[in-house]
Formats: sequence, structure tokens, C-alpha cells
Amino acid sequence: MGYVFPHRHLLGIEQLSREDILFLLDEAEPWVEFNRRARKQDERLRGLTQFNVFFENSTRTLFSFEVAGKRLGAEVANFHTVGSSVQKGETLIDTAYTLDAMRPGVMVIRHSETGAPHQVAEVVGCPVINAGDGTGEHPTQALLDALTMRRRLGRIEGLKVAICGDIRHSRVAGSNLKLLPKLGAEVRLVGPAALLPDDPCEAAAYEELDEGIAGCDVVMMLRIQRERMEESVSGSLADFHALYGLTLERLDRAAPGALVMHPGPMNRGVEIEGALADHPTRSAIREQVEMGVAVRMAVLDVLTRE
Ligand code: NCD
Repeated sequence: MGYVFPHRHLLGIEQLSREDILFLLDEAEPWVEFNRRARKQDERLRGLTQFNVFFENSTRTLFSFEVAGKRLGAEVANFHTVGSSVQKGETLIDTAYTLDAMRPGVMVIRHSETGAPHQVAEVVGCPVINAGDGTGEHPTQALLDALTMRRRLGRIEGLKVAICGDIRHSRVAGSNLKLLPKLGAEVRLVGPAALLPDDPCEAAAYEELDEGIAGCDVVMMLRIQRERMEESVSGSLADFHALYGLTLERLDRAAPGALVMHPGPMNRGVEIEGALADHPTRSAIREQVEMGVAVRMAVLDVLTRE
């Protein structure tokens, strides 16, 4: 017997082994070419009902999960809290029971509370995919980041990756911090002390951007996530840009040809210079979005195989 993906849900990178991660990346690979065709329709999820249950705003993640499901033939239904009974005080678990009673084949969940998808997974009868929980994890984002790096740089093993900006509140950083070391990359965290995490997961921390990105193969920028902060951080956005904003000029410090990544949404002129974000060879930001569809197709397929 070959390898069989051993998990029912995808709640975090934490649960995955190196083998599980490489399997998902390899499963995603053919979908990249498939998605570049003019007409794309595969029927493997035909008859499967996919619920996208988003308690928080999203552009890339929600839309790419929808597109991913549809390209594989699933029936996709999106649940948004605006206009739902969540606004009448219905709890997360009651909402989960209600949706589960409609017998979906898979649920994709985003919630502002850390651990919410895990709670839902306990009570529903179908696989659950975490599409971002509070300041916890965002596993499909880390997988699409890894796929982007692997395709652009040919490997992940041995890469030096600097994750910069608001790491403390970022579930993208949370998942990347777990994934990258499992594949043999070295992770550095760069940001002001107040925005560095309590648990750096063995990554080296730097408070100076130039020092932190020196010699790095990948520089991953993050937005300041004010909505997830309990206390407000002092200082203006202009000050932040002066200290921690990545520009083409500052990128010279990194390894030659270093790749710039950002999960979006980005704030141009704050954590990243607009011209660098649009740079035709250095920026992989739009490619990350493209890889996101392929990764989500793979995850939806793998978790719902009978
Ligand atoms: C991120 C998220 O929601 O965690 N966006 C994304 O899914 N690509 C990052 C963020 O909110 O800044």
C-alpha cells in the first residue's frame, strides 16, 4: 500500500508530518498547470457539498476555496455571518450543528477566535479545513507559500526565510513557523519587540530589518493586524515604514535574487513599497494567490477521498 493521508481534518500545520506536507504539495502541483488552461473542469468532487463558513472578512482565501471547489465539480455554498443568525446571538457550536444537519461533505472555516475550527471539527460529521483561526493557524496559506518557494527557488531545504512585521498577531506566521523547519528551512523573525511572538518556535528574532534579512533567500512581509491587537501599538505608520518597510533598495541586503512574499492584504507604503510589491521578478505575491487555488484543490480532494 502506498502512502495514505492520515488526517480527517486540516486544522493546523502542527498536526502534519514532513511526509504529509510534501504529499499535499505534490498533490497540488498538477493543478497549477490545469488552472492555466482556458477551460478547467474536473469532476472528482461531483456530488460533494462544500460549505465555506466565514465569520471574518476574506478576499483571497474565501474566493480561492470557492474557485477550487468549483473547478473540481463540488457544489459550493458560502455562509457569511453578516445577515445570519450569528447576529442574533447564535453560538459557534449551534451554528455548526445547524450547518452540519444539512449534511455537507466538507466545511471550510474562518473565525476570529483561535481554536474555533477545532471546536467545530469535534461536533460535525464531515472534514473541517481551517481557513484561519484568530492568531492561531492558517495552514493552507503556509502550504501555498511553500509551493511558491519550491517552484520559484527549486527547493525549501536549506533556504533562509525572514518573516517580517507583525508576527505576534499573524496566523500566517504561526503556520509558516511550523511548516518551514519541518522542510529544513531556517526561519528568522524580524519586527519590533512588541510585535514578536512569545514563542518563536526556535526561530532567531531580530529587531532590525537590515540585519534580519541579510543573506535571506525569501523575505515574507506581514501587515500590521490592528483588529487582532488587544492594546494599540504606539508610533505612526510612517515611522513603521521607515524602520520596517521593505523597499527594493533594502532588499539588496538579502541574498541575490531573493524572493519577496506577502499573504495579503498588503498596505502599500507601510510594510512594503508599492513598486517592490509589483516588481516583475522579485515579487511572488500574485503567484502566491495562484498557488493558493492549486493547494486548496489538493486539500479538498485529499480530505474527501472515500
Ligand atoms: C491573512 C489572514 O487572514 O490571515 N490573509 C490571508 O488569508 N491571505 C493575513 C492578514 O489578515 O493579514
